[in-house]
Amino acid sequence: MITNPSSFLFVENISKNFKGLAALTDVSFQAEKGEVIGIIGPNGAGKTTLFQIISGFTKPDQGEIYFEGNVINGKKPHEISLLGIARTFQIVKPLRTLSVLQNVMVGPLAHSFSFSQAEDQALSILKLLELKDKKDVLAENLTLPEKKRLEVARALATSPKLLLLDEVMAGLRPTEVDRMISILQQINEETEVTILMIEHAMRAVMACCSRLIVLHHGEKIAEDTPKNITKHPAVIRSYLGQEPC
Ligand SMILES: Nc1ncnc2c1ncn2[C@@H]1O[C@H](COP(=O)(O)OP(=O)(O)O)[C@@H](O)[C@H]1O
Ligand SMILES: [Mg+2]
Repeated sequence: MITNPSSFLFVENISKNFKGLAALTDVSFQAEKGEVIGIIGPNGAGKTTLFQIISGFTKPDQGEIYFEGNVINGKKPHEISLLGIARTFQIVKPLRTLSVLQNVMVGPLAHSFSFSQAEDQALSILKLLELKDKKDVLAENLTLPEKKRLEVARALATSPKLLLLDEVMAGLRPTEVDRMISILQQINEETEVTILMIEHAMRAVMACCSRLIVLHHGEKIAEDTPKNITKHPAVIRSYLGQEPC
């Protein structure tokens, strides 16, 4: 693998233990601007821990995270957010008693936009996420697919350069998965934001991602194009659950 701290995102030899349990062991990869990369692997593989570390919520035991050439591990989550990295949470966390519009305005206001600028930006993001007609609904009254889209909208509202999506399609019906796939493709085209997406829905990562990284028991066991990933014996054994023919 080419190691290049000056690439857009460079994750270098990250390890993390929780009381003796190796959640991540020596994981490295890089992402270039505008790429959409899928992170896949069984439950407990370390996927969310990787996002926790990139976004500053958890400190790695070893390794470095470089973003646009600078080391960011050790920084606090809000500092990392201001550098241009946004994430969604696997368990959606909207501000329940605020309206959909207010939830999305929090991001632009944190970047010291004026109130009307923040509202304009929030409305254009809600349009992209197909939530504009729900703008005055309280977040707690949204359906699950709508809450998932609001989670993406809130992350986008901080104007990120890098967007970390943690299972934004989990629990969605196939038609809602399709809707999210086309929304993410549109977001990537229109904003050129780089996306790392943790996803179990293979159909979604196949459609959205140019590259997939497979984690298993905290180790990166494969990295390849969606087309080629299923040919890796280690992936078939540990994830897809059958030996190659
Ligand atoms: N804060 C934590 N404290 C203790 N163990 C944790 C913590 N976060 C994650 N783990 C453990 O680390 C492993 C990887 O978890 P996680 O990154 O959430 O996996 P994934 O997102 O791939 O399902 C799991 O065994 C999980 O129980
Ligand atoms: Mg997870």
